[in-house]
Amino acid sequence: MARTLVILKGDGIGPEVVDAALKVLDWAAQKGGYAVERQEALIGGAAIDRTGDPFPSETRALVDRADTVFLGAVGGPQWDRHPKNPESGLLALRARMGLWANLRPFEVFEGMESFSPLARPHLRGMIIRELLGGLYFGQPRGRSVVNGEPEAMETSRYARHEIERVVRLGFQVAQRQGVPLVSVDKANVLETSKLWRQTVEEVRQDFPDVPVIHRYVDAAAMEFVKKPELYQVVVTENLFGDILSDLAGGLVGSLGLLGSATVNGLQGSRGLYEPVHGSAPDIQGQGIANPIGAILSVALMMEWSWGDREPAQWIRQAIRDTLKEGYRTPDLGGHDTTESFTGRVLQQMEQI
Ligand code: NAI
Ligand code: MG
Repeated sequence: MARTLVILKGDGIGPEVVDAALKVLDWAAQKGGYAVERQEALIGGAAIDRTGDPFPSETRALVDRADTVFLGAVGGPQWDRHPKNPESGLLALRARMGLWANLRPFEVFEGMESFSPLARPHLRGMIIRELLGGLYFGQPRGRSVVNGEPEAMETSRYARHEIERVVRLGFQVAQRQGVPLVSVDKANVLETSKLWRQTVEEVRQDFPDVPVIHRYVDAAAMEFVKKPELYQVVVTENLFGDILSDLAGGLVGSLGLLGSATVNGLQGSRGLYEPVHGSAPDIQGQGIANPIGAILSVALMMEWSWGDREPAQWIRQAIRDTLKEGYRTPDLGGHDTTESFTGRVLQQMEQI
């Protein structure tokens, strides 16, 4: 059966890392014996340059018909003064696809310990962040002037069903991995967090085999650093997830090592897959971007949108082995180019 995929390469190193990742995808697809139908469209600054719109109608139409979208990165200094900004294209895309859970797996690869003082070998986990609610979207919000002084405000709001669906996803992931679910909130202070915790307690009735650890976000931040091995599957609201997922990135050592999935359910769901890093304009066009984040996003895509768990494992193992052999791009202190590193990963996959 053919799988269809919309590719949005975007700006800066976006096209460079996407091209590398697609080589890995082609290999995995060939091995798996199926075809991937790809369609490419514009987003971000590249789309502004060609159409004046960071999320043009043609791209929107393609995305509306697609279940799986793969993105590079958007943005760059050349659009800083443009009335429309490339990043708004990405926000519009995410909103359009109606994806409410952002998954950020993290893994400390062997040999990467030196890039993070906190890294412990073989540390792995996943942050599941609610993406459409809370402080980032609640109304009312805005600026005003009160007694001659500027004021700003936003509202945190969650409906129970918005909490329940992401919490349920958290339980499913924890159950599959056979690990506890860590739920992070601030239920000692915030109403939204009280509803969050209550919902977790209700949903857990359906998952009697999954231990639950509740943590307040402040305590979680400290414990995550001191005992990261406890944080194998974490589920939390939008703001806390934004912060904790970057903390997890810090544990791993480099932004270039993280992939992400944004989905609306368990495996088989719609999904947007992208590396966590941005468009890295400082190294654009040099052929030295680290493709690992994009390649790991391919593994996530195969696993979550297509249910291809085995090839996803091969890809991850090939990255581990390639790094273990000492190959790396300059951001990790090595001399490989994007192309030569990707070539090494493909060679490793051949051996599987
Ligand atoms: P960035 O992630 O693009 O770069 C930060 C630093 O990490 C730079 O020194 C860069 O060279 C390095 N870096 C990032 N990815 C790398 C990779 N794969 N290989 C080697 N080195 C890598 O973040 P920055 O500089 O804050 O933002 C640059 C542009 O990207 C901005 O326009 C920003 O708005 C946009 N951006 C886009 C994102 C997205 O499309 N999802 C996410 C973050 C930023
Ligand atoms: Mg962030």
